[in-house]
Amino acid sequence: MERDIFYSQCWEDPQILFGALKIKRNDTIVSISSGGDNSLSFLQFPIRKIYCIDNNRFQNYVLELKIASIKNLDLSSTLKFLGIKYSRDRLNIFNAVSKDLSNEAMEYFMKRYNLIEKGIIHTGKFENYFKYFRTLLLPLFLNKYEINFYLSLKSPELQLEFYNRHWNSLIWRKLFLIFFGKMIMKKIGRHPLFFKYTNIEGIGNNYLMRAEYGITKIPIKSNYMVEYILKGNYSGNNSLPDYLRENNYCTIKKNCGKISIHTNDMLSFLKGLSDNSIDKFNLSDIFELFSDLEYEQCLREIIRVSKPNARVCYWKNLVFREVPKSLSNNIRLLNKLSENLHSIDRGFFYNGIEIMEIIK
Ligand SMILES: C[S@@+](CC[C@H](N)C(=O)[O-])C[C@H]1O[C@@H](n2cnc3c(N)ncnc32)[C@H](O)[C@@H]1O
Repeated sequence: MERDIFYSQCWEDPQILFGALKIKRNDTIVSISSGGDNSLSFLQFPIRKIYCIDNNRFQNYVLELKIASIKNLDLSSTLKFLGIKYSRDRLNIFNAVSKDLSNEAMEYFMKRYNLIEKGIIHTGKFENYFKYFRTLLLPLFLNKYEINFYLSLKSPELQLEFYNRHWNSLIWRKLFLIFFGKMIMKKIGRHPLFFKYTNIEGIGNNYLMRAEYGITKIPIKSNYMVEYILKGNYSGNNSLPDYLRENNYCTIKKNCGKISIHTNDMLSFLKGLSDNSIDKFNLSDIFELFSDLEYEQCLREIIRVSKPNARVCYWKNLVFREVPKSLSNNIRLLNKLSENLHSIDRGFFYNGIEIMEIIK
């Protein structure tokens, strides 16, 4: 998958991870790096260690940059440096924080100053896809005043009323199906591998249903993800990703040393871990990209490295799988919790969440 930065933010809701994994004192966590946000957000808890894994080295460079910023800057300067607040000074700030980067990350960003100037959170391929949506499609249906009005609504009932009155039309639905259909998404949004193992017909329709759920059922007043999609940044009025919230920032800064970053495939990484060493796993939706055999192999390794009652959380996007029979004695699915959390997921694109408890 390695080509460039695919995700400069995480598009999975950290509150789901906290509800699913029940983080405890001294936990050791394995977490997909992606845009770094969710791995950083675990540092608000008194954990022992977190391994951040990504098979795309550029994702780990983004994570390194966010860590360097948090380590060296106060919250207000981090918000400027990463691109949430306006700044013309990002290159100077980069010079002050870059001492904490690995040589590889430093070399990459030195050649890509444009990413720093733009604010790193706006630079992923996926974030760019949302930018096309926001600048090409959305203005056909909503003006700036209406978007701000929608973002200020106080309940899902009002959101539904607004959607039906001002937003939902035949032409909106038709254009949505094209823009978020397989063809365009493969070209400009997500890696083509994401579509290899799906059986879902009508991917645009699937995402339209999910989007309508997100727009009308999830309280917008705390949905920073939708605010970003519609406006291209966070104002703070619709909450913020956990790692940027004032209450968490100092604790996360103190705990940055607990992160250990690895560029590796998840399965190979797990093979290098000792038996009974991990408490919690955040696996994003990586199994979308796995064959059935790789899925089984990965679960087998997870069971081996898990401590008793370890928990695993991953999102199901376009691919659904059953736990292989051979492993069912070691895996308990927490279906009720999964359903409850799925219904409040601010990252509304997904079709489900899998939460597992490992029995040993
Ligand atoms: C799985 S992607 C998904 C992001 C978002 N939820 C989506 O569906 O578009 C998140 C991250 O996982 C990484 N990734 C994918 N497969 C991986 C694997 N087998 N091992 C390690 N990292 C992986 C990708 O490079 C990416 O940065």
